[in-house]
Amino acid sequence: MQRFYFVLICVLVVACEHKPVVPGDKGTGGNVDTSAICSPDTVYFANDILPLIISNCAMPGCHDAASHQDDIVLDNYSNIMSNGEIRPGRPDNSKLYEVITDNDPDNRMPPPPKSALPQDAIDKIAKWIQQGAKNNACNSGCDSAKASWTNDISKIISTSCLGCHSSGNVLLNSYDAVKTVALNGRLMGSLNHMPGYLPMPQGGSLSVCDINRFQKWVNNGAKQD
Ligand code: HEC
Repeated sequence: MQRFYFVLICVLVVACEHKPVVPGDKGTGGNVDTSAICSPDTVYFANDILPLIISNCAMPGCHDAASHQDDIVLDNYSNIMSNGEIRPGRPDNSKLYEVITDNDPDNRMPPPPKSALPQDAIDKIAKWIQQGAKNNACNSGCDSAKASWTNDISKIISTSCLGCHSSGNVLLNSYDAVKTVALNGRLMGSLNHMPGYLPMPQGGSLSVCDINRFQKWVNNGAKQD
């Protein structure tokens, strides 16, 4: 527990600096079979958990490889298992789960002024640990033709972007905010890693299919459909 209090103090002192980092190969760290179609009853590390943890915990100034507050790096499967002290099958005995569900804001991760993780994210992490905390992945059957705000784009943003973009200089926490970066070119500039834009999602990645869905949504006028 002591380490985590130390992390907390560091985070409070340093706050979250916004330093650009070049996204490296921070995949799942091994040969993961992605051919199986996603089952709605299973939580998958690569699809569900890694993007959540990268955007909520492994952001610059916090638990990314460059900042590693108190040497806790949470940017890939093996680091998350060991530094998050994950006990497969036992969320309540897993440090990572303990700190995201601590009722006392002084002990909670992410620390204030950030809010606690949304309940659905906490539930996903609990279920993944209960199911054995595997390094698993699935084929989401992504269809690049499906690109509506409500069913597609807003969901990708909440998993892969909101942890970093619910505060700070570039907000993506409402339809209007996303529409602004969609229409001024910054959204696709950064998702397509074009020169002159910060490559996004920082520290993580989106599938080509998901990037195509963003492109289609923007080309259709970034509507709230
Ligand atoms: C780990 C943290 C992190 C994640 C995850 C992340 N971003 Fe960012 N993003 C940043 C930072 C830091 C900046 C720089 C601006 C700032 O300081 O807020 C930025 C900037 C941007 C910009 C402006 C780029 C420019 O060059 O003008 C866009 C657009 C953007 N992000 C979109 C996204 C989208 C879309 C996602 C999800 C698919 C995402 N980001 C995920 C941290 C992140």
